[in-house]
Amino acid sequence: MKILVVGGGGREHAIIKKIKENPNVKEIFALPGNGGIAADATCVDIKATDLSGVKDFAVKEHVDFAVVAPDDPLVLGMVDELEAAGIPCFGPNKRAAIIEGSKAFSKELMKNFDIPTAKYQTFDDFTGASAYVSENPVPIVIKADGLALGKGVIIAETHDEALNALKTIMKDKLFGDSGNRVVIEEFLEGPEVSVLAFTDGERIVPMISSMDHKRAFDGDIGPNTGGMGVIAPNPYYTKEIAERAMNDIFLPTLKAMNSLGRPFKGCLYFGLMITADGPKVIEYNCRFGDPEAQAVLPLLESDLLEIMMDVREGKLDSSKVRFSGDFTCCLVLASKGYPKAYEKGFAISWNDEETRDIFVAGAKLENNCLVTNGGRVLGITKKGGTLKEAIDKAYKAAESINFKNKYFRKDIGHKALKVLREV
Ligand code: AMP
Ligand code: GLY
Repeated sequence: MKILVVGGGGREHAIIKKIKENPNVKEIFALPGNGGIAADATCVDIKATDLSGVKDFAVKEHVDFAVVAPDDPLVLGMVDELEAAGIPCFGPNKRAAIIEGSKAFSKELMKNFDIPTAKYQTFDDFTGASAYVSENPVPIVIKADGLALGKGVIIAETHDEALNALKTIMKDKLFGDSGNRVVIEEFLEGPEVSVLAFTDGERIVPMISSMDHKRAFDGDIGPNTGGMGVIAPNPYYTKEIAERAMNDIFLPTLKAMNSLGRPFKGCLYFGLMITADGPKVIEYNCRFGDPEAQAVLPLLESDLLEIMMDVREGKLDSSKVRFSGDFTCCLVLASKGYPKAYEKGFAISWNDEETRDIFVAGAKLENNCLVTNGGRVLGITKKGGTLKEAIDKAYKAAESINFKNKYFRKDIGHKALKVLREV
């Protein structure tokens, strides 16, 4: 079989390595992929958002199955485009991807179907939004409606900060048209859990839970990033919480999407906060999380490609989705300065025995040498029988991977270890 994977980050590398385990896979194309992915797939320089470019390539190459991994092509309707051209796909169509593409949509969905989430109001006008902010307590959370590279959420500690955020989003258009509308919501407190789930629209099978570390610096301070590391499973996600999440959130979300004529097929990501009143939805994503996928997929013991094909055909079978009982720690090695300004173009080297556990995110090949080419350069994921073992192995490997300006957090998984009382 010929498989096409749209995207070019650490998540796509993790997906590709897992798909490669299927013995029927003869060739994998990554569009655009990256210099590190090139070791596992044929990278073709077509942008992930180039709908017709990707479709033309898939048709020309007679691709048997496509996986559309990032949010923007999904929200733009790449699955619709490929399916219309006869290419079977894993991923939601445009009508379903709106669950991530518009926060106003997802908040209204939750309100109308009684799915627990933060209280909120949506505004199209700056005057109304500022009046609302002034009348409500701080901290208060302001979100651009559309996609904003994971940076469209501002937690304002003061009213001034909140008004400034509104101005930046709605007037200065920091996120372009994504900020024509804002969602303003109540600040929730509690530990966060990411749950990725396979769903074929009828059934939903959650994967192992995980904990992302979004802030740039140790101790969860500094600016928000795309994610500096992940551990799985998340110790806050107890059996009892998982049951509540299934009954109060996952199944009602599926039902809600179906009743709106927007059945969701693919990987649905639930960003949950475990509040004193139980789990609430912070955000939905219409795809695998990154770096969550890099920590969760290595624990999957079943055949990922088969599951993806079953999802597409509407015959997802929970007995075919098996996870190991191990723990993982995915440590992100970034370029110093990320998520703000950073330098790139530095040579990357590692011991060959680490290759299997490395997912490359921001690197390119220059004269056959892998060099840094992004803020998040790579993820290293290690497994262990205990979380402590997984973390220790990941840190040991991180020391043996070298590139100039290498930066990583030193405390990935520490909070989880405390919860597990392992320290
Ligand atoms: P998002 O980009 O939607 O994942 O949001 C980024 C981060 O902002 C989340 O991971 C939370 O830590 C935080 N956040 C979002 N919404 C809220 C909320 N209503 N209350 C508290 N924190 C929030
Ligand atoms: N790690 C968060 C995300 O993928 O959106």
